Amino acid sequence: MSMQTELGSLLGWVEGMRSRVRKLAREWEDQEGNLIMILHAIQNEFGYVPRGVANELAKEMKIPMARIYEVITFYHYFRLTPPGQHSIQVCMGTACYLKGASDLHDELARRLRLLEMGGGRGGEFQLETVRCIGCCGMAPAVVVDGETHGRLGLDDVEKILKPKRGTP
Ligand code: FES
Repeated sequence: MSMQTELGSLLGWVEGMRSRVRKLAREWEDQEGNLIMILHAIQNEFGYVPRGVANELAKEMKIPMARIYEVITFYHYFRLTPPGQHSIQVCMGTACYLKGASDLHDELARRLRLLEMGGGRGGEFQLETVRCIGCCGMAPAVVVDGETHGRLGLDDVEKILKPKRGTP
């Protein structure tokens, strides 16, 4: 693709994004809780709330960017960065919590940080906590890319990360 074509498609994308934001702002104009609803729509579309889109929204709604960031950072649902290529959901429901889900989560976070610091692919993982996933008999449970792993101990962390890391 030539530089001109790339630039053309980038400008097209920006124009499309602007008109989408304009449309959303008009759709929700004067409605209570409109900022949250618009941010939901943006995140559904992009997988997160990109800075450029938030900036455009601030202009359209005539509100400061700080107000948008206030909402995004208050609600855990919203993301400011693109979702990772792999998702890891640690169940923090009561049964899992009582069986050590919190330690499991911390160990996963520690391993992913180490992977990232070592120039590895830790950033490709999206680690999050979720409420009961309905497998309490397998507590503590973790879902990796849609696959449920249960009765996990700290020693199992390496085993569930390994196939996703592309290492032997
Ligand atoms: S509490 Fe974790 S699966 Fe139910």
